[in-house]
Amino acid sequence: MIVEHNVPLQAYNSFGIAARAQHLARIASEADLAAVLGHPRWRDAPKFVLGGGSNIVLTGDVKPLVLKVEIPGRRLIEETPRAWIVEAGAGENWHETVRWTLEQGLPGLENLALIPGTVGGSPVQNIGAYGVELQDRFDSLDAVDLDTGRAFSLDAAQCAFGYRDSVFKHPAPDGRAAQAEGASAGQGEDPGPVRAGFGLLGRALITRVRFRLPKPWKPVMGYLDLERKREETGNHAPSARDIFDWVCAIRTAKLPDWRVLGNAGSFFKNPTVTPEQCADIILRDPKIVHYPMPDGSIKLAAGWLIDACGWKGKSVGNAGVYERQALVLVNRGGSSHPVTGGEVMTLAKAIQTSVYERFGIRLEPEPVVV
Ligand code: EPU
Repeated sequence: MIVEHNVPLQAYNSFGIAARAQHLARIASEADLAAVLGHPRWRDAPKFVLGGGSNIVLTGDVKPLVLKVEIPGRRLIEETPRAWIVEAGAGENWHETVRWTLEQGLPGLENLALIPGTVGGSPVQNIGAYGVELQDRFDSLDAVDLDTGRAFSLDAAQCAFGYRDSVFKHPAPDGRAAQAEGASAGQGEDPGPVRAGFGLLGRALITRVRFRLPKPWKPVMGYLDLERKREETGNHAPSARDIFDWVCAIRTAKLPDWRVLGNAGSFFKNPTVTPEQCADIILRDPKIVHYPMPDGSIKLAAGWLIDACGWKGKSVGNAGVYERQALVLVNRGGSSHPVTGGEVMTLAKAIQTSVYERFGIRLEPEPVVV
């Protein structure tokens, strides 16, 4: 096991923030992780799991031991009359994995094309786009409890998926390691007492994810931008590959490429309000973008709210609001004068304040602030 010291993280976070890891270990296998967890110096040290770094804001150097997940591998593990089950290592690039499934003739993930990050990060925030969320294609995952070193598996219910949310984003209520109920033990070990809904924040390292791709494949259209593509192209029976190409084109037009302009995707979640709150806002702002949800609540477009407050194109230091999508905060300093996490959070707070003052709505940041 090699632990590196004073490692620059600029290339490992999509904002391009120039923080460093005091200590970093690359985890390319379960054995690498076992070596770290069995080492007297690192066993009890605080740890921070780093995937693709596409959903984090680094506000300073990272003191906990950074576990950089680089576990490879992609394979079809099972085919039933109703689904293909595909497994991928947590370190695999998400978009390349989506592309690979299509090349193998395994459709189902195409609406999630071009989302930055790794396979291991995908269940953490239940990534979603263009009418599909990860939970719609999720089968199960393997993870390791960082406190005990035990391997365990979770199914979808145990992951407690929500909108950009999962068990991995919530702290254990008692501040100790917890695992989801009935988690099946890996390597013949008993994972101990466990209960669904317990938080696993900072407690687990996801090693592998399995996707369930339903058969027969059906396109998921319905999202306005995709319907526009259907009309534009006159292609009324798109293949999974066509949808993949459309999603790539839509995202490329709307969202900045983090390799060119650092960012962490949508910076805030789309908030939900009651129909009464929404009606009240419509009286003042008739043009507000709103979508009724199945549970009766109304989802508002955070990008629209921020845009309406005049933030598009504005900056605080080197942190800016993207010109084409107000929901995305960007690094205007590039790699030579990169934005700091402090600048990003100052801008985020200013946006939250003005949206609250105008609409009475508290926007919740999506990325993890470290
Ligand atoms: N809008 C504006 N001004 C803006 C931005 C948006 O008026 O500056 C309006 C748009 O015109 C549209 C509405 O707001 O009517 C919604 O915008 P869009 O369709 O671009 O989607 P979004 O709600 O901003 C969400 C996800 C994206 C995902 C897209 C497509 C969240 C927080 N964001 O964005 O996810 O790609 O839908 O499904 O749910 C991400 O999480 O990083 C991400 C990019």
